[in-house]
Amino acid sequence: MKVSVLGSGYVGLVSGVCLAEKEHDVVCVDLDLDKVNKINNGIPPIYEAGLEELLTKNVESRRLKATTELRDAVLNSDITLIAVGTPFDGEVIDLSYVEVAARQIGEALKDKNSYHVVVVKSTVVPGTSDEVVLPIIESASGKKAGVDFGVGMNPEFLREGEAIIDFMYPDRIVLGGGDERTHAVLEQLYSSFAGVDILKTNNSTAEMIKYASNSLLATMISFSNEIGNLCSLIEGIDAVDVFNGVHLDKRVSPIMNDGKRVVPSLTSYLEAGCGFGGSCFPKDVKALVAYGKRKNMRMNLLDSVMAVNRDQPQQMINRLTKHIPDLAGKTISVLGLAFKPGTDDMRESPAIPIIMWLHEQGCKVKAYDPIAQHEAEAVFEHYDIEYCSKLSEAIDDVDAIMLITRWDDFKNIGQLIREKNPQPLLVDGRRMIDKNSIENYEGIGV
Ligand code: UGA
Repeated sequence: MKVSVLGSGYVGLVSGVCLAEKEHDVVCVDLDLDKVNKINNGIPPIYEAGLEELLTKNVESRRLKATTELRDAVLNSDITLIAVGTPFDGEVIDLSYVEVAARQIGEALKDKNSYHVVVVKSTVVPGTSDEVVLPIIESASGKKAGVDFGVGMNPEFLREGEAIIDFMYPDRIVLGGGDERTHAVLEQLYSSFAGVDILKTNNSTAEMIKYASNSLLATMISFSNEIGNLCSLIEGIDAVDVFNGVHLDKRVSPIMNDGKRVVPSLTSYLEAGCGFGGSCFPKDVKALVAYGKRKNMRMNLLDSVMAVNRDQPQQMINRLTKHIPDLAGKTISVLGLAFKPGTDDMRESPAIPIIMWLHEQGCKVKAYDPIAQHEAEAVFEHYDIEYCSKLSEAIDDVDAIMLITRWDDFKNIGQLIREKNPQPLLVDGRRMIDKNSIENYEGIGV
């Protein structure tokens, strides 16, 4: 199929590249000429594992190209995916980019005689595709939805760092659509994903599935953190042992006929840590709470999910000040700046409030992250931070170490700490290190 994708951010570009890999002819549209040039030269404007290889391959085979010309892209494709940003301003998600895209698609469709399907891929609250996007396209094109064009909603379930794998080997494909023809076109788009569960719904349900999925995961994390924080107050209980016991519930990790257990990756969201971040969970949970409010419903549970998460960096700080009450002049190492491993994305990372607080206390901050240093330099533009190029350097001559991100590189940090005399305090925000393996250990849930 001929596919145009509006917006070459993380969702748009990954979707475009993967659909090209699935042998569709894809054109990515973006306003940013620099981005467009990069894509056409096989250079991904964002870091995502495996993206560069697939991008280069599909640009070279001419299955994928990028352009700033939205109108041509729409007129020369059968289906257009809207994958523009939907920032959250604290009250509502900002739909202005989606609205502009819908208007421009509508204006292009004025001159198109064949049926065209427009699919919202951006994360939007229920009702957006049918009540915002569809009427804008109808009014800009003078055409009728369900007759001349269709509107669908196809949420993405891509984890940063694993987005290519998640797209190419999905756990589900949710196809929202306002009419049968739209569903049929969407099924055709995904026809090469054999054996994957496909759920056909209306547009609002598809929109809600996305929010419900992220909210569930965020809830599991805050639940685990609240239990972990309570465990910390009770002598002799460690949250790691508690959650190992919880994971063994056969409804969480089923026992198969051969007696072996299947341990779903979901169990890793049921572990205490220093909080969730990223561009999705915080924004989506807040947006759903705000949406509930607009519907006159208080989202008590999700409100608390955010409250627990906001306080979680403080749990790290409490463990530090228990050992070092006066931090002025002390050197503290922060290991991991990205909100999770496998990405350089620092958005809403727990490292941000922790570093800001350390700075306020007059600490000298050393920081190390395998790939996010460049991003960190922008976030902490006005802060004096010593960025280290090696892990060993980051923990040299420090009073304490705050482990924030679960990077694999940090697994052997216990050995590096044992070589020091005296050994610095480790505050383990991800419970990566055996608490008995070093002299001065503090961890969430201990
Ligand atoms: C999340 C969802 O997992 C994706 O399914 C969804 O498509 C995406 O948001 C989105 O809405 O675009 P992502 O934010 O990349 O993806 O990251 P996750 O790997 O789920 O991590 C989110 C947060 O949960 C991070 O702060 C991470 O540290 C934390 N987390 C993640 C855990 O605490 N435990 C885990 O096992 C995994």
